[in-house]
Amino acid sequence: MQFEVIARCHTTRARVSKMKLSHGVTMLPTFMPVATQAAIKGLTAEQVEALGFTLILNNTYHLNLRPGTQILDKAHGSHKFQGWNRNLLTDSGGFQLVSLNKFTTITEEGALFASPFDGKPTMLTPEESMSIQHSIGADIIMQLDDVVSSLTVGPRVEEAMERSVRWLDRCIEHHEKSGKTSTQNLFAIVQGGLDPGLRDRCLQAMVERKDRVAGFAIGGLSGGEEKDVFWRVIKQCADKLPEDRPRYSMGIGFAEDLLVCVALGVDMADCVFPTRTARFGVALTHSGPLNLKLNKHSTDFGPIEEGCPCPTCKDGLTRAYLNHIITHETAAAHAVTLHNLAFQARVMGGARDAIIAGTFPTYLRTFFAGYFGDAG
Ligand code: GUN
Ligand code: ZN
Repeated sequence: MQFEVIARCHTTRARVSKMKLSHGVTMLPTFMPVATQAAIKGLTAEQVEALGFTLILNNTYHLNLRPGTQILDKAHGSHKFQGWNRNLLTDSGGFQLVSLNKFTTITEEGALFASPFDGKPTMLTPEESMSIQHSIGADIIMQLDDVVSSLTVGPRVEEAMERSVRWLDRCIEHHEKSGKTSTQNLFAIVQGGLDPGLRDRCLQAMVERKDRVAGFAIGGLSGGEEKDVFWRVIKQCADKLPEDRPRYSMGIGFAEDLLVCVALGVDMADCVFPTRTARFGVALTHSGPLNLKLNKHSTDFGPIEEGCPCPTCKDGLTRAYLNHIITHETAAAHAVTLHNLAFQARVMGGARDAIIAGTFPTYLRTFFAGYFGDAG
């Protein structure tokens, strides 16, 4: 990976960087759309690329269950399999296991879960997670971490943080032995819950391993904690992570959160929110989210958002039409997904442009004034 900071905001910690991976350059800060099952729900890879995205996310847990590594190996990896020629990041599987499979138990060896197919006990170890991510072939791969909900308190938070450091070492060892370090870049994930002391200890341990990882993520957030606590953890981590490595806050996708994270020095984020909310009929705009199911849109013949460059708005699909098809036709979900991803790309592209132009504080003020106005 080549990572170069090319511009900085003088009043916040925001920065613009160029990250070069095996499948091209990605400009940061960026939002990464989530293609859990190797598909952005409702869109083709070509459509996602046309929106300007150069980095998307796949999930190790899901792709290991189906299609599995044998098929991924035969397909020569997930890029070819899904027809995506740009950069790809895979999450390691642990977070999805804990959030989706209630029979998961964490041991020092790995995460033990009942196979959703036949109930057989199955173990996902740090080494196994690396191997699966090698079969997937993502440009950025994540360590297996021990994740607890951000609302967990007590000794379990400390145990999970310390185990995440030990699992990072096992991931590093396995990854370095694979011979894939020049094409696949391993990121560490900082844990430690909402406790500044635990976060500090995790940061120190992981930054010590800086020469053996390509970047750092901030994990264990967005689980229902208060906003000010969330911001404090992001600030603490972003301040202490190395300047010359990308910083990725996991599971963040509301535009207002993205911009605060960017101001605090975050470079990358991902979330299912914009694509999932689209399927529920909610369109994102600079005046706030818009529920297209509401009857008041049934006679509104304007686009979702004036001036939006997305295919849905440009092709003249109106709020009235979308309101008419939203609960009946899958085409509506596709149309709103296109718009919502274009919105995320615009918010982040606008941030990059403003940081370069030296106008990021004004950009933030304008965005927040508009977003918390009334979109109707
Ligand atoms: N996605 C959202 N949060 C997390 C986290 O803490 N760890 C991992 N691996 N994935 C996440
Ligand atoms: Zn649009």
